Amino acid sequence: MQVDYNERIPNNVGLADDRRLLRALERWQPAFLDWWRELGPVGALEHEVYLRTAIGVDRDGWAHFDYARMPDYRWGIFLAEPVPERRIGFGIHKGEPAWQELPGEYRAELRRLIVTQGDTEPASVEQQCRLGLSAPSLYDLRNLYQVNVEEGRHLWAMVYLLHAFFGRDGREEADEMLARHAGDADKPRTLEAFNEPIDDWLSFFMYTFFQDRDGKFQLHALSESGFDPLSRTCRFMLTEEAHHMFVGESGVMRIVQRTCEKMREHDTDDVGPFGAIPLALLQKWVNFHYSICLDLFGSEDSTNAANYYAMGLKGRYQESKIDDDHVLADRMATVPALEDGKLVSREVTALKAMNETLRDAFVADSQRGINRFNKVIDHFGIDAALCLPHRAFHRNIGAFAGIHAAPDGTLVDEATWAARHDEWLPSAADRAFVQTLMHPVTEPGAMAGWIAQPRRGIHGQPLDYRYVEFH
Ligand SMILES: [Fe+2]
Ligand SMILES: [Fe+2]
Repeated sequence: MQVDYNERIPNNVGLADDRRLLRALERWQPAFLDWWRELGPVGALEHEVYLRTAIGVDRDGWAHFDYARMPDYRWGIFLAEPVPERRIGFGIHKGEPAWQELPGEYRAELRRLIVTQGDTEPASVEQQCRLGLSAPSLYDLRNLYQVNVEEGRHLWAMVYLLHAFFGRDGREEADEMLARHAGDADKPRTLEAFNEPIDDWLSFFMYTFFQDRDGKFQLHALSESGFDPLSRTCRFMLTEEAHHMFVGESGVMRIVQRTCEKMREHDTDDVGPFGAIPLALLQKWVNFHYSICLDLFGSEDSTNAANYYAMGLKGRYQESKIDDDHVLADRMATVPALEDGKLVSREVTALKAMNETLRDAFVADSQRGINRFNKVIDHFGIDAALCLPHRAFHRNIGAFAGIHAAPDGTLVDEATWAARHDEWLPSAADRAFVQTLMHPVTEPGAMAGWIAQPRRGIHGQPLDYRYVEFH
């Protein structure tokens, strides 16, 4: 379907032919813009930003680069092209034609899945809203804003599904997306990790490395859905998510590189006095962001997760590439558990282990990224490595919620946890130190001292391009 870019809401879902839906979305749009002005990027309403905008969903047509003020960004509704005659790939409906309309019997479950995903999108914009005041370069500032507008578009994607398929309660849920706020005492965002303030750029890069990767795996699982509009929405969102993870991974990589350069130059691990971030601090940030993201996958043993899979609503990562019957009726799986104060593994049905299965995929993917960071450290001939902490470390959901574990998985008592907490997680002093490095660098091509230059600019532009024009 053609995309009319001149529409108030650019889309490839035929909005112009559905007056009722169009009117509902046009009523929601001003509330969204008010929310963006109030809780979006601070002090950035008038900036002109070199942004990529989706204008179509086919391979070469969808990315268009130009300057735009963020409130003028064309937040549109884009679904990936339909797969002809698509069939449900797993669960008890396996082999049936994918649902083009909402399956009434799974209405509540689908609404919950869509609302949970949707809530994370504006949450991340809120969490990151002050970062623009301390960007290490125009290149990074532009990437932050690109991520922000795309998270806004992801909200649009979920709000479209709510409005188009759920009627009145869908519209109410869409309104609620703008009523909950990250970190709000009365109306917080649904998931804990989406309430943490992201106040420094090390946290931002760790966030886009780990938390957007959670997004990648959730979107992959939902893109397998038998509810075809959800599947197509998520497939298109994944193209944007890939950029967010690029921002995170290349950002952390550039920090690691600068840290290693300073370690070699001054022959010390303690590079803080030289304006870089010590590896020990990077490790604490990894420990924090990774552990709160593990929680996002939910309990190891989950009836909800089993139902979502059996009903054909949420699949596994790359479901179709897995070599089994995709029904899993009699299969068992082992999940980590806690028994008599010891870490053990326990058998549950494969269906109930679905959260853990998705978490496993996330862990493996995160490890691959960490390995790439360690290659940089290796390249400098430095005998050190970053690592992912044990799954039991710093958990708030699932089997390990009630215990304390060291990063290596050793269980520790309350007193030890309290005494060693600051060795393992960012302390107030660590955060204060990182804050001392956060000064805005706004000259084209210039870069803050704690991070290396990126390899190349955006969309073929040079590194000293004016990626953001301040107004
Ligand atoms: Fe997103
Ligand atoms: Fe994202």
